Amino acid sequence: MTNVPLLVYFSSVSGNTARFIEKLGMPARRIPIHSSDGVPHIEEPYVLVTPTYGGGQGRGEEKGAVPKQVVRFLNDEGNRSLIRGVISAGNSNFGESFCLAGEIISRKCRVPHLYRIEVFGTPEDVDRVSGGLEDWWKLQ
Ligand SMILES: Cc1cc2nc3c(=O)[nH]c(=O)nc-3n(C[C@H](O)[C@H](O)[C@H](O)COP(=O)(O)O)c2cc1C
Repeated sequence: MTNVPLLVYFSSVSGNTARFIEKLGMPARRIPIHSSDGVPHIEEPYVLVTPTYGGGQGRGEEKGAVPKQVVRFLNDEGNRSLIRGVISAGNSNFGESFCLAGEIISRKCRVPHLYRIEVFGTPEDVDRVSGGLEDWWKLQ
């Protein structure tokens, strides 16, 4: 096993999560925005990083919150079997729905919700996530 986990992430056109991933400087694969670009098939254990969308719209949390691209990615049984943890991004202006996508994925896939990032994260988030992931990965 490698020293750090692979990160598999989604980021919409606003690119906040992608900015955070770049700052981490860890191996990463991006889930495409457009379905025509296909669904990645991951073949090693990974940590999923996802923003939250529309969690507070009263449509039922299962339908909103987790971006549809991430739902499609996790509907692939091989991908789902290799997830080891989830990191979520969001905006605390959304109150109770802040980072809800991470809670939903954690519950459904039975993996820990490792960290919550506000928008693209602070320098402190970058340090805590990169150090924390490395320490945690050694225990897996
Ligand atoms: C339409 C819309 C709905 C959102 N809904 C939520 C939400 O329910 N909970 C939350 O924590 N953040 C919510 N956000 C904030 C995004 O998760 C946040 O801006 C994130 O950084 C976007 O990541 P991305 O630019 O990588 O796609 C929402 C943002 C938009 C534009």
